Amino acid sequence: MKQTAMKQPKLDVFNQMESEVRSYCRSFQTVFNKASNALLWDKHHKAYIDFFAGAGALNYGHNNPRIREKLVQYLLEDGVTHSLDMATEAKERFLLQFNNLILKPRSMSYKVMFPGPTGTNAVESALKIARKVTGRTNIICFTNAFHGMSLGSLSATGNSFKRKGAGVTLGNTTFMPYDQYFGSSIDTAAMLEKMLDDPGSGIDKPAAVLLETLQGEGGLNSASQAWLQSIEKICRKHDMLLIVDDVQMGCGRTGSFFSFEDAKIEPDLICLSKSIGGYGLPMALTLIKPKYDQWEPGEHNGTFRGNNLGFVAASEALTYWSDPDFTSQISKKSKILHDFLARMAKTYPKEIQEVRGKGFIQGLAFVEPSHAGKLSAEAFERGVIMETSGPRDEVAKIMPPLTIEEKLLHEGLERIEEALQAMFSPAAAKGKVSVHA
Ligand SMILES: Cc1ncc(COP(=O)(O)O)c(C=O)c1O
Repeated sequence: MKQTAMKQPKLDVFNQMESEVRSYCRSFQTVFNKASNALLWDKHHKAYIDFFAGAGALNYGHNNPRIREKLVQYLLEDGVTHSLDMATEAKERFLLQFNNLILKPRSMSYKVMFPGPTGTNAVESALKIARKVTGRTNIICFTNAFHGMSLGSLSATGNSFKRKGAGVTLGNTTFMPYDQYFGSSIDTAAMLEKMLDDPGSGIDKPAAVLLETLQGEGGLNSASQAWLQSIEKICRKHDMLLIVDDVQMGCGRTGSFFSFEDAKIEPDLICLSKSIGGYGLPMALTLIKPKYDQWEPGEHNGTFRGNNLGFVAASEALTYWSDPDFTSQISKKSKILHDFLARMAKTYPKEIQEVRGKGFIQGLAFVEPSHAGKLSAEAFERGVIMETSGPRDEVAKIMPPLTIEEKLLHEGLERIEEALQAMFSPAAAKGKVSVHA
């Protein structure tokens, strides 16, 4: 791909007019104007390989042509765009597709709730219904969890910086150590069970356990199948609902549509957002086991629950899941990613602590936390967009669109290798031809 040497564009309008709360544009200082699958271009025609995929909202790539065609057709036919939660043909089609392509093949029976079109709204609704059906308030959540920025979700989020932003006391949650929090010798599921069994533990009987199977924002910490199965058993024993927040790890990110499929657990509530909207369009779902669908009409409302463009895009995106080659491609590319990261960890054993993650979201945990941000900056210089995660931003995370071309994946990884060389063995990097040349 053609790379053009270019001075950093000025970001004056954004600096002057946009709130200080802006974040990603501070790491990626340019103005983008075009995108296709795993490529983004800025207004100076410089191309970037997207290894961030809208934080998981673009699993099917930017401007996926299959999805775009359906959207354009729908718009040209004057299809309904906004409908609150009124019935529309677009929503009907989505529900049928979701049932036929996702739920039925997995023998899953869930009612589909459309909360407001964000991940945090899916989580809020799951917390509410769990509390309503059990009549209890406490929620068990985990160290380094991330569930969103609204108050309920934030109460279940570990990061102290994000929590501080709430400005009020966050409560009705009990944090427990996630799998491997104390290393492999301590079983934190057994710890949770003991605490819940013990009337002296100080834990109020919870309504639910809320977890991510792999903590995307919390540092790519992955829960084992055995741990997830133990947590499910504990939920059944203590009559608590099991909520899986699959907002980031769902829609194929870990290799299967739901991230918990290989663990063979059956959550009572499942939160989906990000890539469920197919095209990067806002959409969210809360899947509810039918017996727990005890909402009163309108008890969790929201103006933008009927984003029909989201339904149209999602209906087409789901067709990827009827093609077995799609999942085998994800696992092939996941292996390429893993092999590359393992090689980097071997090359820089003093600097890289370990490879983390699973499927098509993996990364490098650095000994010195600031090295992850440095790698992201060096990669950006070389035309690759990637982010950091973890409580100290110590993990450099790679999550390209699932649809990325293999050649482009290799090219992006090569640039990351060059970035690591520039950081840790500058002499070796010197001889390399810069991608900006
Ligand atoms: C696991 C998880 N849950 C919830 C959210 C919140 O989603 P949103 O930003 O759409 O509110 C995120 C966002 O990154 C997430 O990763």
